[in-house]
Amino acid sequence: MRIVSQRRFGGPEVLETVQAPRPVPGRREVLLRLGATAVNPVDCKLRAGRVKFLGDPPFTLGFDVSGTVVEAGADVTGTGPGDNVFGMIHSRTGTYSEFVTARADLLVPHPPGLDHMTAAAVPTAALTAWQALEAADPKPGETVLVHAAAGGVGHFAVQFAERRGAHVIGTARAGNHRFVRSIGAAVVIDYTTTDFTEAIDRVDVVLDLVGGEYGRRSLRVLRDDGRYITVQESDAHGDPRYRMVTGKPSTTVLTEIGAAVAQGQVRVYVDRVLPMNEVRESHRLSETGRVRGKLALTPWS
Ligand SMILES: NC(=O)c1ccc[n+]([C@@H]2O[C@H](COP(=O)([O-])OP(=O)(O)OC[C@H]3O[C@@H](n4cnc5c(N)ncnc54)[C@H](OP(=O)(O)O)[C@@H]3O)[C@@H](O)[C@H]2O)c1
Repeated sequence: MRIVSQRRFGGPEVLETVQAPRPVPGRREVLLRLGATAVNPVDCKLRAGRVKFLGDPPFTLGFDVSGTVVEAGADVTGTGPGDNVFGMIHSRTGTYSEFVTARADLLVPHPPGLDHMTAAAVPTAALTAWQALEAADPKPGETVLVHAAAGGVGHFAVQFAERRGAHVIGTARAGNHRFVRSIGAAVVIDYTTTDFTEAIDRVDVVLDLVGGEYGRRSLRVLRDDGRYITVQESDAHGDPRYRMVTGKPSTTVLTEIGAAVAQGQVRVYVDRVLPMNEVRESHRLSETGRVRGKLALTPWS
């Protein structure tokens, strides 16, 4: 089978398609034929060696998967060949691969009507947005400021916050304002022309999907009893309102989100779908920081 692998850390050019033996699922695992995977910014950081939690190369990137079960391990119950499933998995063998092994208990069945590209775009971004909002726990009527509202995590966060009854303010460049409003933001600030700290009054929650120096600046517009939630290192670290969230697999939440997506209650915006032959281009696009919603990768054409 074909996989994307890399022999060293570096730019998108280190990503290579190579042949590897088709894996055999363990007792509690399934073997999936890839339907689609998604690119997350962390993939680029791992590729470049800016974060190293996968260890040294060679490894295969990719955490999000949607695929069809072709084989189930001896102890797997509840799913079998032919089922379409999706989920978030963390391993050095990744999801940029024609076949993927995954723990069956990390996957959920597709609700009727969900396609692979949409399903693959959901897990990491939506679970992170959901868990960040759980940590913030906005009450109906509270104001939530979402930085990078047009991105993968951001576009889910705007929708989940609005569904909780929050008044949502997003930051995005002008070309994304109509989009961010269409998914539930009441106000959108063009951060390229306007200093958000001067454009808004105190908010109850900040979801900081940018990090860095956005931290302290965000604290300036946060109420004294507000919650600042980041998914990125930021200079707000040390403030009592600061909390860092890392997206984790949850089949319960993913099932709920999948159902909402399939019923049209939550929109998944897939900016581009590229075949795995163009994986290098997908990383270049991700690293522009300008992707709206998600990038999906389908098997080699
Ligand atoms: N800790 C975790 O578990 C976890 C999980 C997922 C993601 N993350 C991290 O969270 C960050 C966001 O992830 P993502 O998947 O949402 O990224 P993404 O989809 O690549 O984000 C792209 C979006 O960011 C917006 N953007 C870029 N710079 C901005 C700025 N200064 N202010 C406002 N918006 C800005 C862009 O919108 P415009 O074109 O409108 O500027 C674009 O739509 C990444 O650093 C990622 O690594 C962490």
